[in-house]
Amino acid sequence: MSQRSSFYPELKRDIAPPHGKLGVLIPGLGAVATTLIAGVHLINKGLSQPYGSLTQMQRMRLGKRTSPRYALIKDVVPLADLNNLVFGGWDIFPENAYQTACHAGVLPREMLDQVKDQLETVRPWPAVFEQAYVRRLSGTNLKSGTTKKHLADMLIEDIEVFRQREGIQRAVMVWCGSTEVFTQPAPVHETIEAFEAGLKANAPEISPSMIYAYAAISAGVPFANGSPSLAVDIPALVEYAGQRHVPIAGKDFKTGQTFLKTVVAPGLKAKMLGLAGWFSTNILGNRDGEVLDDRGSFRTKEVSKGSVLEAIVQPELYPELYGQVFHKVRIEYYPPRGDAKEGWDNIDIFGWLGQPMQIKINFLCRDSILAAPVALDLALFLDLAQRAGLSGIQEWLSFYFKSPMSRADLKPEHDLFIQHLKLTNTLRILVGEEVLDHSGLDYYESSDAYRTGMGEA
Ligand SMILES: NC(=O)c1ccc[n+]([C@@H]2O[C@H](COP(=O)([O-])OP(=O)(O)OC[C@H]3O[C@@H](n4cnc5c(N)ncnc54)[C@H](O)[C@@H]3O)[C@@H](O)[C@H]2O)c1
Repeated sequence: MSQRSSFYPELKRDIAPPHGKLGVLIPGLGAVATTLIAGVHLINKGLSQPYGSLTQMQRMRLGKRTSPRYALIKDVVPLADLNNLVFGGWDIFPENAYQTACHAGVLPREMLDQVKDQLETVRPWPAVFEQAYVRRLSGTNLKSGTTKKHLADMLIEDIEVFRQREGIQRAVMVWCGSTEVFTQPAPVHETIEAFEAGLKANAPEISPSMIYAYAAISAGVPFANGSPSLAVDIPALVEYAGQRHVPIAGKDFKTGQTFLKTVVAPGLKAKMLGLAGWFSTNILGNRDGEVLDDRGSFRTKEVSKGSVLEAIVQPELYPELYGQVFHKVRIEYYPPRGDAKEGWDNIDIFGWLGQPMQIKINFLCRDSILAAPVALDLALFLDLAQRAGLSGIQEWLSFYFKSPMSRADLKPEHDLFIQHLKLTNTLRILVGEEVLDHSGLDYYESSDAYRTGMGEA
């Protein structure tokens, strides 16, 4: 068999071991965050399983198919142990994580009661909030400061106090706060100098999520953005993360309908089946749904969900197949459903000689049940990235996002399967293992293969 293989030994990293506790800092202690925190404690008590988490359950192949090793990801790369996670966070409402989790109604009360003590210790610190950015919410647990710079300094102080109190060595921040109204990048977002001047001058274009992201990077804390708001996805903060050697990732957790879209669309394209239209609609009744009922916040989500399809089917390469796709996404706030979202997709496709066909998908999912393991994996992988000396945009984490961040001159990758290969191959590279491209021709190049008629004559 051919000994040629894809090793990148020059990219292998010395990864510092995950000694001690890892602080997980969460702006927005709502449904997703409390489902994550409750879940980690339930799992640590041996009362449940981390279904949906790659870092906890997935195995990846290492080595050739003739002598494969199927190792757990957490055995391939050194990840923080779930028993070493300590949670802290901010919210505009003062309720502790137990009260919020009961109110969110994602997990049954009997489950929450098994970790009530642990949840009650997570009491949100006062938030940096501006109602112009989330018009449907108003809370009382707020910081006040004369300038946005002052507010950022208060967040950095919170992080420092938390580090000292909990005796934590490392921390990551995962934004689980509400979706802010749609904003376009402005001159104040262009450079870190302009941004810092804007913080001092209270520039209205600097949103609360950007202030948290700035505070995290200033404190050397990796930042992931689970919402579609810009947050860290502006040139100034990308530049700043590079300067400070801090890993960042975003944006918008890929969980329900968009997850399935990035499974089905690559399949249609791979088969060269045409697409006439894709109508996606949802009902959900949690607080996220209430916030998205506002036109400004919905627009942010709409843009995030909308970019996926075009990026996958590439109408510029296949105008006959994908040049006329009618793509529409709706989200309807429907309180009786709570966190149990229901999504419908109607997909109009066409095949041989232009003959039409339809696909219908009805996904009865649970928003926070899908999002919690995503938030967990991001926290653990960003901590890994930092210990491996990676910094700036972590494109290999695109798998987890609806609108993956990428270098400005590169198109983001949306195809779930390419994203997954990118993630697992990045892990292989980090530990000096062979990259897998699945072409497999090397298995048929040996003299044995020729004898059995499988090689060239
Ligand atoms: N659940 C999913 O499947 C999913 C998928 C993709 C993205 N998201 C995004 O994740 C985020 C969280 O979703 P959720 O279902 O937990 O929503 P949620 O409404 O239950 O929680 C969000 C929390 O953020 C708080 N908040 C708002 N602004 C804040 C600020 N400036 N500082 C601190 N706290 C603030 C709110 O008070 C609320 O408690 C949303 O932006 C949502 O769009 C969720």
